[in-house]
Amino acid sequence: MRQNIVAGNWKMNNTLEEGVTLANEVNEILKANKPNCKVVLGTPFIHLAEVAKNVDCELVGVAAQNCADKVSGAYTGETSAAMVKSTGAQYVILGHSERRAYYGETNAILKEKTDLVLANELTPIFCIGEVLEEREAGKHFDVVKEQIEEALFHLSAEDFGKVVLAYEPVWAIGTGKTASPEQAQEIHAFIRQTLANKYGAEVANETSILYGGSCKPSNAKELFANPDVDGGLIGGASLKAEDFHGIIAAF
Ligand code: 13P
Repeated sequence: MRQNIVAGNWKMNNTLEEGVTLANEVNEILKANKPNCKVVLGTPFIHLAEVAKNVDCELVGVAAQNCADKVSGAYTGETSAAMVKSTGAQYVILGHSERRAYYGETNAILKEKTDLVLANELTPIFCIGEVLEEREAGKHFDVVKEQIEEALFHLSAEDFGKVVLAYEPVWAIGTGKTASPEQAQEIHAFIRQTLANKYGAEVANETSILYGGSCKPSNAKELFANPDVDGGLIGGASLKAEDFHGIIAAF
């Protein structure tokens, strides 16, 4: 059966020292309270190696929040998937709406990044989701379908089986507004059906689809109770070990 996952996305927060302290706190809490799901910390690049070295890899996975769309070479300021792999991280968050909105990441670019992440035996946590105007116009199904089709549907069924999806409605990110459990279930079921139409029911049923957007200890349980919601991608609430654990403990 597919894996339940709670992944933190620290975004651009925490100095190296603060980040290592937070990762160690999460690690200690999980040592004392074995989680019923996979737990991942999505840190800035500069934290990856140190966090990966410090945490118990059986308990805590480590994710980059991005990687380059090129293999290597003269791309000042970029970090390749191979470099991420060499830190000991196992995951890469791709296509976050902040990357799409502020750094011009298109589905075509994300297709390249996905291929490089998979080629380096890392797991993509691939983000999709609509903005408010698209939701209000009833276009959210078409938007997520297009994001998936254009960036991921070139993959073989075997490679698609290595992808984790994260549905993050942009209107719920950092706004305190959460999709209702019914809204989350409706679109997660649609996403799974989209995968089933392309790759068959088995691959679709094995794919973890996370929810992201103002997920917190107080609403995680009702979100995760939905049959097609397999965990969460957590921003703000992943920056405090206790809050993050409150969400993990929803499983
Ligand atoms: P918040 O949990 O802060 O709304 O952020 C969600 C998110 O963007 C995770 O990637």
